[in-house]
Amino acid sequence: MGFLDSFRRDKKAAQPPKVEEKKEEIEQPEEEIEEKKDEASDDFFDIEDAEVIEREVEVSQEKHEPAPLRTYKDKKPLTHVVGATKIIAIINQKGGVGKSTTAINLSAALGELGKQVLLVDLDPQGNTTSGFGIEKSQLQKCIYDVLLNDVSIEEVIVPDVCEGVDLVPATINLAGAEVELVSEMARENRLKDAVGVMKGKYDYIFIDCPPSLGLLTVNSLVAADKLIIPIQTEFYALEGVTKLLESMKRVKTRLNPTLDIYGILLTMYDGRTTLSRQVAAEVRNYFGRQVFETIIPRTVKLSEAPSYGIPIIQYDPTGKGAIAYRNLAEEVVKRG
Ligand SMILES: Nc1ncnc2c1ncn2[C@@H]1O[C@H](COP(=O)(O)OP(=O)(O)OP(=O)(O)O)[C@@H](O)[C@H]1O
Ligand SMILES: [Mg+2]
Repeated sequence: MGFLDSFRRDKKAAQPPKVEEKKEEIEQPEEEIEEKKDEASDDFFDIEDAEVIEREVEVSQEKHEPAPLRTYKDKKPLTHVVGATKIIAIINQKGGVGKSTTAINLSAALGELGKQVLLVDLDPQGNTTSGFGIEKSQLQKCIYDVLLNDVSIEEVIVPDVCEGVDLVPATINLAGAEVELVSEMARENRLKDAVGVMKGKYDYIFIDCPPSLGLLTVNSLVAADKLIIPIQTEFYALEGVTKLLESMKRVKTRLNPTLDIYGILLTMYDGRTTLSRQVAAEVRNYFGRQVFETIIPRTVKLSEAPSYGIPIIQYDPTGKGAIAYRNLAEEVVKRG
C-alpha cells in the first residue's frame, strides 16, 4: 500500500547507520577523511553529475506507477460447473464487528477451496476494496455507478483479486447513494437486479454491508437469500441485533419472502476473558444452532493483513486467524 510503503521507507531512512559502518569511519586516518571531504565538495559543484541524479529520480518515479487494473474480460476461465448461486449479505448495523474482515477472509478461504466467489463492497468506506490492495484512486467506476448510473456490474468487476475471488469495489462516491436512491424508481431492488445477472457464474456472492440500516442495507436485504451476522464477543454484543432482525422481518414480508439467517458468527473472541466466554454462551443460548461452530479469535494478524492488501490465508497462512477462516469456509460449504 502506498501509505505503508512510504512509512516504511521513511522509517528506514531515519534509522542510524549500522555499527560496523560507524567503526570503519572512526578507524580511517584523518588525511583520508580530508581527501574525501575535498572530493565530496568538488562533486557537489559538478553540474553534470547533478543532471545524472535528476534522471535517476525520474526513472524511479516511473517504476512506482501502479499497473492498470484488470477487467472482467481478463478473468481466468472457470474450472468447474457452478451450481445454484448463494447470495449472502454480511450484515450488522453495529460498526466494527468484523463484517469486512469476514467478507475478505471467508471469500479468500472459499476461493482456496476451489469455489468461485463474487464479493460486493457495499460500504462507502471501501474497507473490503482496500483490503484486497485495490487503489481506489485508480477506479473509474464502482458499485455506485451500477446502482445509479445504469452501468453493468461486469464493467466494474475487478477479477481474481485472489484465487477464485472477484470484487465489485466501492469508493467514497457510494456515500451519495443513500440520498440519491431515495428519489429513484424501484430503489430497493437496484442491487438485486445488478447481482441477479451474475447468478450461475459464481458459487457465492457476498455483500459487505455498511454499518447502518439505510437504503444500501435495505438493498442488500432485498438482494440476498441469506444473512451472515457477525457479532463481536464483548459487552453490548447484542445491541442493535433486535433492530436488525426487525428490518429483516419487514423486508421478508414485503420484498423478499425467502430471506433468512444463514449463520451468526462470533468474532474477536478472546478465550482468556470471562466476558468473551459469557457473551459467546449468551449468543449461543439465544440463537441456538444458527451460530457457527467456528469462532473467530481476536488476533492482531487479522487487523494487520488489510494494510498489506492481502487476505489472512496469504499474510499469515498458518496462524490462528487463517485456521479460523478456513474452518468457517468448510462449515459454509457443509451448510450448503
Ligand atoms: N478477529 C479479529 N481480531 C483482531 N482484529 C480484528 C478482528 N476482526 C476485525 N478486526 C479489526 O477490527 C476493526 C473492525 O473490523 P472490520 O472492519 O472487519 O469491521 P466492520 O464490521 O466491517 O466495520 P464497519 O462497520 O466500520 O464496516 C478493523 O480494524 C479490523 O482489522
Ligand atoms: Mg466494514
